[in-house]
Amino acid sequence: MKSTDFIVARNDLRQCKFIETRLPEPAALPDEALLIKIDRFAFTANNITYAQLGDQVKYWQLFPAPENFGNIPVWGFGEVTASRHPGVEIGERLFGYFPMATHLVIEAASVSKRGLRDAAAHRQGVAAVYNAYARVSGDAAFAGREGDCQALLRPLFMLSFLVDDFLSENDFYGARSVMLSSASSKTAFGLAHLLHTQRKGIRVIGLTSAINVDFVRSLGCYDEVLTYDRATSLPSDSPVAFVDMAGSSELRARLHRHFGEQMKYSGRVGLTHRSASPDEPELPGAKPVWFFAPDQIRKRAREWGPGGVDARFGAAWSAFAPTLAKRLTVVEGRGASAVKQVYLDTLNGHIPPEQGHMLSLAE
Ligand SMILES: NC(=O)c1ccc[n+]([C@@H]2O[C@H](COP(=O)([O-])OP(=O)(O)OC[C@H]3O[C@@H](n4cnc5c(N)ncnc54)[C@H](OP(=O)(O)O)[C@@H]3O)[C@@H](O)[C@H]2O)c1
Repeated sequence: MKSTDFIVARNDLRQCKFIETRLPEPAALPDEALLIKIDRFAFTANNITYAQLGDQVKYWQLFPAPENFGNIPVWGFGEVTASRHPGVEIGERLFGYFPMATHLVIEAASVSKRGLRDAAAHRQGVAAVYNAYARVSGDAAFAGREGDCQALLRPLFMLSFLVDDFLSENDFYGARSVMLSSASSKTAFGLAHLLHTQRKGIRVIGLTSAINVDFVRSLGCYDEVLTYDRATSLPSDSPVAFVDMAGSSELRARLHRHFGEQMKYSGRVGLTHRSASPDEPELPGAKPVWFFAPDQIRKRAREWGPGGVDARFGAAWSAFAPTLAKRLTVVEGRGASAVKQVYLDTLNGHIPPEQGHMLSLAE
């Protein structure tokens, strides 16, 4: 048996190709192993960031590829087509982290009613969320368009939820405006939605490219929308917080110099613009810091007790998900050429923000 895998050159993401890898025959799978056919997966700028940070954050180790290449992790759905685990049946549907491929073999462990994890040695030493699979057979919330929205947005919305919670817990560091870069991104508009609906008195400002201004305005969750070149036309005499999905060193420096000591918080979240310099100068205002989601989850898990994070996140997701019908068009792509095209278009910033791409390499 063979799997078709899409791999990219680690030091030049423009180079990409398909390879075939050999899979064990179902009868030769080791004890506890599952063979999974990967049905469909979401692809957004977040996946490109995984590739950019592949070495630093160990993303490349999750789904091994030939030397100097990597297989980008994606969120999606798979179907168990062979099982050597007594607690998992053929035909089961799983939601979780997959490679861009047709198949994956995992070592099922910690099998419970709701999920399981991959205990393969090379997948250890990363955050638990990257090894966990939810058992979603028959769950309507993970089927059809709703399922696509889960794959496209739920992992991103967790970040939106945590940043909103973190800022609110810290009383926005005294700011009464929050600026978001790459305001058109799914992660940013999830956060804008939470700030807009829950944090009265906080002004939400979206910074985006000229081509995406209309879309960002149409979202209805930003009080003001500005193109990047106009960001410094904002008054600089009141306190602001900055949540940065774009990761542009030039934009960050310009904003810090404009707002000076009124820049009360400067959180780094993303790298959509792929123009971060490794050596950034000292900037006026709050020191830019990476927002590290697992820290906030751990803190809240301690404070809110068992199930507390899930319950609050679930409630936030339930209020957000229905708004996606008018904000997001799901676009399907099947087969190798569609996958390659969406990958390259995402890499080059050519995907319109209202689109959410669901891909499949499966025949
Ligand atoms: N730290 C974390 O834990 C965490 C969690 C979730 C997401 N994130 C990060 O948040 C960012 C947004 O991810 P997403 O999946 O929500 O993105 P997305 O919805 O795919 O965002 C698309 C937007 O990003 C900008 N963009 C994308 N590619 C570009 C390119 N090549 N050149 C210039 N602009 C480009 C454009 O926005 P504008 O025109 O508005 O700039 C575009 O409309 C990613 O960097 C992701 O890794 C981080």
